[in-house]
Amino acid sequence: MRPQVQALDWTEFVEWFEPRWQPGEHVSIVTPTGGGKTTLAVGLLELRRWVGTLSPKGVDKTLRALRLRRLADWPGDTKMDKLLDDDDEHGRVSRYLFGRDVATPKQDWPKLAEVYDRCLAGMYRMGGWTCYVDDLKLLMDMGLGPVATRWLVAARSLTLSFVSAFQFPRRVIRSALDEPTWIFASQTRDATMVDRTAEVLGRPKPEIRGFLEAIPRHAWLCVGRDPTAAAVVTMPPKRS
Ligand SMILES: Nc1ncnc2c1ncn2[C@@H]1O[C@H](COP(=O)(O)OP(=O)(O)OP(=O)(O)O)[C@@H](O)[C@H]1O
Ligand SMILES: [Mg+2]
Repeated sequence: MRPQVQALDWTEFVEWFEPRWQPGEHVSIVTPTGGGKTTLAVGLLELRRWVGTLSPKGVDKTLRALRLRRLADWPGDTKMDKLLDDDDEHGRVSRYLFGRDVATPKQDWPKLAEVYDRCLAGMYRMGGWTCYVDDLKLLMDMGLGPVATRWLVAARSLTLSFVSAFQFPRRVIRSALDEPTWIFASQTRDATMVDRTAEVLGRPKPEIRGFLEAIPRHAWLCVGRDPTAAAVVTMPPKRS
């Protein structure tokens, strides 16, 4: 691909990305199942101080690395404020999981959707949060598409960042690919990804198609709004 896409290892990438990832900028991570979405998300979320996670699938081995503290529901703004102050005082980063830490059966989705709705609204009111959605498609299935859209469209001005992982752009809301400042794509033939990436980078689709097909396993193409700000980053090997 002709635009200068730098190849960076993880340490180099963090140095490059951290000062560029402004509060309020959203991130989308797109790859089929098992492609390393959560692993990448964990690496990115470690750069943020106030993280609220929604994971209808619960916490798997990969997500556990974030050491999220679980809150069954939004505890109320005053209590949440106090929890964050406490974290500050003890030098802890504030990384929370809202709802359940195990997969929620379908019949309980309406209840979980209410919890998520309250948590999203709470983070929205407080500002400053980075909200991570591990599998945005499940949020759609739970009927939270409009709420997620609100975040993606309006949260930016409130310095709220939305980090979402999903497998196929066509199965989630359009804004999930249109609104984020940063998109991470792994090796793919997905036509929507090819189109969007080509659009952002201002390059012909066949060129981008070839490029996206050739990304090595566990490496990511990271594109920002600035077509010159693109990188291929290789994650460190799995820590077990
Ligand atoms: N950079 C990497 N190098 C080596 N192994 C990796 C890398 N990234 C992820 N893996 C491994 O691949 C597997 C899947 O990773 P991960 O859980 O992040 O994928 P996922 O896309 O979130 O999967 P799922 O769709 O099941 O949630 C894990 O065992 C993980 O350790
Ligand atoms: Mg995952």
